[in-house]
Amino acid sequence: MMMRMERWKGRVALVTGASVGIGAAVARALVQHGMKVVGCARNVDKIEKLAAECQSAGYSGTLIPYKCDLCNEEEILSMFSAIKTLHQGVDVCINNAGLAHNEPLLSGRTEGWRNMIDVNILALAICTREAYQSMKERHVDDGHIININSMGGHRMVPSADEHFYCATKYAVTAMTEGQRQELREAKTHIRATCISPGIVETEFAFRHHNSDPERAAAVYESIKCLKAEDIASAVTYVLSAPAHVQIGDVQMRPVEQVS
Ligand SMILES: NC(=O)c1ccc[n+]([C@@H]2O[C@H](COP(=O)([O-])OP(=O)(O)OC[C@H]3O[C@@H](n4cnc5c(N)ncnc54)[C@H](OP(=O)(O)O)[C@@H]3O)[C@@H](O)[C@H]2O)c1
Repeated sequence: MMMRMERWKGRVALVTGASVGIGAAVARALVQHGMKVVGCARNVDKIEKLAAECQSAGYSGTLIPYKCDLCNEEEILSMFSAIKTLHQGVDVCINNAGLAHNEPLLSGRTEGWRNMIDVNILALAICTREAYQSMKERHVDDGHIININSMGGHRMVPSADEHFYCATKYAVTAMTEGQRQELREAKTHIRATCISPGIVETEFAFRHHNSDPERAAAVYESIKCLKAEDIASAVTYVLSAPAHVQIGDVQMRPVEQVS
């Protein structure tokens, strides 16, 4: 595995939502493998702290913090233009930022639905388009788009709190396959993959049930959950696959998870 990550040394990866949780673990793993990682989120101070940790750990890559609200297309476009100026462009785009609001289909607030659409669907589509255009203009033919999906993108859980979230993740399943088809039609060897975890212990449930932290804590106490590092390992696994192998989806649940 280490051998095959060698080819990504010095290459540029964008990781969205790198301030905490899965995104932070992915950013750390890629920096450890020698990549130049641009990590973006709103809480850029947390990414700065992570960058300092990576540096003191002596990792061979670097983490470059970038403050970006992914609900704002102008901010996303400015980020890509800054990456072009400072680091040439993006070779690997990891669309990780995402969230759930507790807004059922029959009673939820439009505002919460719109925020999920903006971050989980639109930002992923915009970042992928911009990353592809960046690869195309630099004749990069071996890039990779990795979308952090969810098991919620493959089956509906019988819980109204998650229905709209699942709908956005079904969109991620559809977009990953659409991206694969368009990349192939464009005669590139750029790969598109999604990783679909079950329950991962992060800030996710605390943000989802933000008015009920006990309920969020109970989610993570009920079973032995996946760790953010397990998802980071799946990311390095898909990046490590031989160049002719395109892994479409990695579905991974905690062994004890029911649905
Ligand atoms: N945890 C799970 O059980 C689980 C399961 C399956 C799939 N997933 C997926 O995994 C991905 C990461 O989730 P996580 O568990 O790591 O959640 P998390 O700990 O809550 O982290 C979410 C990340 O998304 C970023 N983010 C949210 N809104 C943003 C915005 N408007 N602009 C920029 N960044 C934004 C947050 O950064 P800031 O708040 O600093 O901006 C944070 O870095 C998501 O796509 C989620 O759907 C999670």
